[in-house]
Amino acid sequence: MAKSKKILIPNVEAQPGVQGNWRVERFTVTPDGASLYNMRARASRHVVPGEYTRLTHYRDVIMSDTPAEKRDHSAFVRAARGDVLITGLGLGMCVTAVLAKRSVKRVHVVELSEDVIALTAQPLLDRYGDRLTIEHADAMKRVPADGEVWDAVWHDIWPTIAESNVRDMKALRAKYERTLRDEKSFYGAWCERTCVALVNRPYVSMRSLPSFGW
Ligand SMILES: C[S@@+](CC[C@H](N)C(=O)[O-])C[C@H]1O[C@@H](n2cnc3c(N)ncnc32)[C@H](O)[C@@H]1O
Repeated sequence: MAKSKKILIPNVEAQPGVQGNWRVERFTVTPDGASLYNMRARASRHVVPGEYTRLTHYRDVIMSDTPAEKRDHSAFVRAARGDVLITGLGLGMCVTAVLAKRSVKRVHVVELSEDVIALTAQPLLDRYGDRLTIEHADAMKRVPADGEVWDAVWHDIWPTIAESNVRDMKALRAKYERTLRDEKSFYGAWCERTCVALVNRPYVSMRSLPSFGW
């Protein structure tokens, strides 16, 4: 069987800052902190000691550039090409990863929070020029324009893996799947399979994961 090509998602370059109730900050996972976390985490969400960046809202971690997060996005990053739609700007980790690919022509991001846009958008817009557009809008309410066509669509608007995300995922699919260019186009949402599994097996709750850092 052919080995799938490893995809490198770079660490986030967003600068530390505070805007409203949102914060970008660097943090360190120590070897002891990692062991403690990994004892309780599911295998796929293990953390490795190191320096990372996270986005928090109040005290909740919304996004970070830890290996588990990178893995969650790697299928999308690998498949992205042409015209790409991302809902959820966050730290801009996905934006940077897909725009590093020459096969990606342009990326359009839909982001709900003006504070997140103020925190992370400008350096990305400066770097990528007209290959990147960022729209301030609610992805759940936004209606795709006539003639909007994407080669890849990726939704990442949820802070946690939860069964309640599935309702949003279905609503987004109903609106956006028809905007795909052809059968080779990519469509996905963050941790969709795991969320669906939680609906079917609600006793396996990801909420039992420790929430103390990343
Ligand atoms: C997990 S972060 C996204 C991380 C991003 N994929 C990255 O690579 O850094 C989720 C983002 O979705 C945004 N968001 C939440 N609900 C949204 C909505 N309904 N429409 C658009 N953006 C939304 C949040 O403000 C936050 O910036």
